[in-house]
Amino acid sequence: MDIAPRARADQYELIGPESCVPLLSGPDMPLLGLGTWQLKHQTVESVSQALEAGYCMIDTSGDYHTQRGIGEALRASGRPRESIFLITKVEETDDAYEALRTNLAELRLEYVDLVLIHRPPERGVGEKLWQGLRRGKREGLARDIGVSNYSIEQIEELVYRTGELPVVNQIEWTPFGHSPRMLDFCHDNDIVIQSWSPLTRGTRLNDDKLAAMAARYGRTPAQLLIRWNLQLGVVPLPKANHASHQRDNLHVFDFEISQLDMAKLRTLNEHYSALGQLQYV
Ligand SMILES: NC(=O)c1ccc[n+]([C@@H]2O[C@H](COP(=O)([O-])OP(=O)(O)OC[C@H]3O[C@@H](n4cnc5c(N)ncnc54)[C@H](OP(=O)(O)O)[C@@H]3O)[C@@H](O)[C@H]2O)c1
Repeated sequence: MDIAPRARADQYELIGPESCVPLLSGPDMPLLGLGTWQLKHQTVESVSQALEAGYCMIDTSGDYHTQRGIGEALRASGRPRESIFLITKVEETDDAYEALRTNLAELRLEYVDLVLIHRPPERGVGEKLWQGLRRGKREGLARDIGVSNYSIEQIEELVYRTGELPVVNQIEWTPFGHSPRMLDFCHDNDIVIQSWSPLTRGTRLNDDKLAAMAARYGRTPAQLLIRWNLQLGVVPLPKANHASHQRDNLHVFDFEISQLDMAKLRTLNEHYSALGQLQYV
């Protein structure tokens, strides 16, 4: 199956962390963000150092317990609100509209740039959640809405029931675990894939083939994984607490993986998940 990026990836350049991909609905989204799952008490310090290092996008969720710290770090940074793209999520069991308001209250912000349904509910595909998020968007509480951990079939069903495409599907995505079919589907429908656990939560950074290829480029395995996403047109959200890791993960805009090596990385696919199971295949 052809895995080359098509629909949106040719519409932007990989210049730096401030480079953006256009979303289906119009606004631009940065190409690289900071994940914040399990930062917890270190959130203010960690996000502050990330903003200083140049990150323009932060990913959080109501259940990460990082929202208060992110809001605090954002205000302390002195950076204008519109210079940071903020993503949050609501749970599948939530009243989505109320959960969005709660998230904003924790962040102490007037709007988020993107709010996602964290995962599909046990029954149905989340039409009610979607309506709640749509209301939030209409009222200016979120600039865009999308999904996370949805399969192709679940997205199709959601579109059938609501008449609207999500702008983003946030899913686990690495050379060791990904889906060419999902990439094709998202590119064909102008849905941007955001990659969670893009560094395999550290579990595969010592993989022999990955490490050898990274060494050939004079890069770390983490940088190679991030760059692989970027060249596919996938938006990675690496989490890094340490300042050195945060800096490492931003320095991915001054080298290019050859098409041959992109293909070699693709052959590492074994549907690996750092959390046990790829949820969308
Ligand atoms: N939508 C969803 O269902 C979902 C699920 C999971 C995650 N997410 C999002 O995706 C984000 C990223 O995923 P993740 O946190 O699971 O894992 P990840 O980003 O794949 O890996 C994070 C781990 O890699 C380490 N690391 C970071 N940069 C490194 C580098 N340059 N070299 C070596 N190690 C490095 C980090 O260490 P330090 O922290 O010690 O620096 C941390 O232990 C989450 O934080 C969250 O925002 C979303």
